[in-house]
Amino acid sequence: MMRRAALLALRTISSSTNVALMPLIASCKPLESSGTSSSSWKSFATNSTDIFNTHRDLPHNNASTPFEVSEANMKRINEIIARYPPNYKASAVIPVLDLVQQMNGGWLSLSAMNKVAQILDMQEIRVYEVASFYSMFNRTKIGKYHVMVCGTTPCRLNGAEKIEEALSSHLGIHLGETTSDGMFTLGEMECMGACVNAPMIAIADYTKGVEGFSYIYYEDLSPTDAINIIDTIKKGGKPKPGSQHRSKAEPAGAMISGTWVPSTGMTTLMGPLPGPQCRDLDKI
Ligand SMILES: *[C@@H]1O[C@H](CO)[C@@H](O)[C@H](O)[C@H]1NC(C)=O
Ligand SMILES: *[C@@H]1O[C@H](CO)[C@@H](O)[C@H](O)[C@H]1NC(C)=O
Ligand SMILES: *[C@@H]1O[C@H](CO)[C@@H](O)[C@H](O)[C@H]1NC(C)=O
Ligand code: FES
Repeated sequence: MMRRAALLALRTISSSTNVALMPLIASCKPLESSGTSSSSWKSFATNSTDIFNTHRDLPHNNASTPFEVSEANMKRINEIIARYPPNYKASAVIPVLDLVQQMNGGWLSLSAMNKVAQILDMQEIRVYEVASFYSMFNRTKIGKYHVMVCGTTPCRLNGAEKIEEALSSHLGIHLGETTSDGMFTLGEMECMGACVNAPMIAIADYTKGVEGFSYIYYEDLSPTDAINIIDTIKKGGKPKPGSQHRSKAEPAGAMISGTWVPSTGMTTLMGPLPGPQCRDLDKI
């Protein structure tokens, strides 16, 4: 538990620039420990020295890899560009990169980024800077389905680590890796704004290009729910989107230590609250 707390603290701290805290970071040594959580730690999106942020020429990703924009997609790009003043074409870079990522199976190849630079009259380096800064952009090839586990505090406190472990062992991959059949990439994202239904994952579907692109949240997950969602997709089905146990975020119960506990009914808040009031932090 202490190690996990230290990891969480380190993670929160390392994203700030508070220089006074630097000695604290230096004195923490969670990275040396072994086990699932330490191997997942290596792939956090915030690791700016990792493979996702450095381009290396590969047979399928170099300046001469073909990348063409279809007429229909060029029309979409022009619609985006038209939202900005003609002398600020570069303002369209984020939505255009997002669209291009959908065209390119979920990731931005070097030639895809170069194409965006050419369309928006930008220097190529300016496009690379944007693509490498935002974790929503992937610069390495990913699977057809990008499964992203929310790793921020509310989800983490409500069992996200167990979801991550379940998915990792079910798919046989670690965070940041892709299954050998090229179907699933397991990733992690920061808070996706669905904390009220924590823990949650989002799955981006890159199988059908821009037209069929979807980015669906699955919430209130137990580890078994998460595995069922993957299995449904594998069988070509459509998993239930949103909460797996209630219709939206109504007070119907809560996911506690990986089990859905239905609400015991309405309360006036005048009498004692129905439990459990405290969580056993070692069990989450
Ligand atoms: C960052 O990623 C690199 C390359 O994947 C890895 O060697 C390194 O251990 C990671 N660093 C942290 C702090 O996780
Ligand atoms: C660059 O890409 C081309 C075409 O995709 C490929 O034939 C070539 O081997 C690649 N070069 C390198 C250095 O990987
Ligand atoms: C790309 O995908 C991986 C795997 O899901 C994820 O860890 C990473 O944060 C994403 N973003 C970048 C910039 O690579
Ligand atoms: S912390 Fe997971 S959605 Fe907010």
